[in-house]
Amino acid sequence: MAAALEDRAKRVFGDHYPKAVAFTDLLVEHGVERGLIGPREVDRLWERHVLNSAVVAELLPRGCRVVDVGSGAGLPGIPLAIARPDLQLTMLEPMARRVAWLTEVVDALGLTAEVLRGRAEEAAVRERLADSDVVTARAVAPLERLARWCLPLLRPGGQLVALKGESAAEELERDAQAVRRAGGTGARVTTCGGDVLELPTTVVLVEREEQASRRDGARRGRKDR
Ligand SMILES: C[S@@+](CC[C@H](N)C(=O)[O-])C[C@H]1O[C@@H](n2cnc3c(N)ncnc32)[C@H](O)[C@@H]1O
Repeated sequence: MAAALEDRAKRVFGDHYPKAVAFTDLLVEHGVERGLIGPREVDRLWERHVLNSAVVAELLPRGCRVVDVGSGAGLPGIPLAIARPDLQLTMLEPMARRVAWLTEVVDALGLTAEVLRGRAEEAAVRERLADSDVVTARAVAPLERLARWCLPLLRPGGQLVALKGESAAEELERDAQAVRRAGGTGARVTTCGGDVLELPTTVVLVEREEQASRRDGARRGRKDR
């Protein structure tokens, strides 16, 4: 790795940098053969994937409950778990072979993260992960679908952090109404990692509206009677 990149990676991961190296080495060794990353990604793993994911940590309050929906190769879940061991992180992934990979990485690096097999929209998953503080998702689905899948996993006032490319603002404009219908509010685009990345990570932030709980409560109340 070039010295300048190593320096930036050390700034992002601090004392946990060796674990980030171990994760990246595992991806270089097994990522393509196990169908986790494309061959063209190997040379740009640090900048485009590992650091791009890890810088999202700056948006996460200490000790918060985070669900990473559709972790796949472990992005952004594994870099977040490495950079921020204080987080209560669950990586949610439906594909068995990716769940196996994530579990192996968590064990090999001694991370405090849970790996759960399932889809965000499943009732059992919603019940299990309800009231999370933050949901992250990277390259999983368009914003409209992400809002429908992910907002129900959040506590009222909790935040969806969708890692998107440069077209994030266009996507938000296109899906703003659908996001509101799904119970999202305050949707906006921001960037992270401007001090360490050549191309900062663009994210769409959406909060789960506060009334959502009252509506759910009212529905539950009616059903319980
Ligand atoms: C293109 S991959 C991206 C993986 C990783 N987030 C990344 O940035 O490299 C999309 C991932 O989302 C998962 N996925 C698709 N639909 C999902 C759903 N409804 N709930 C949870 N995960 C889902 C897929 O299995 C796949 O691993």
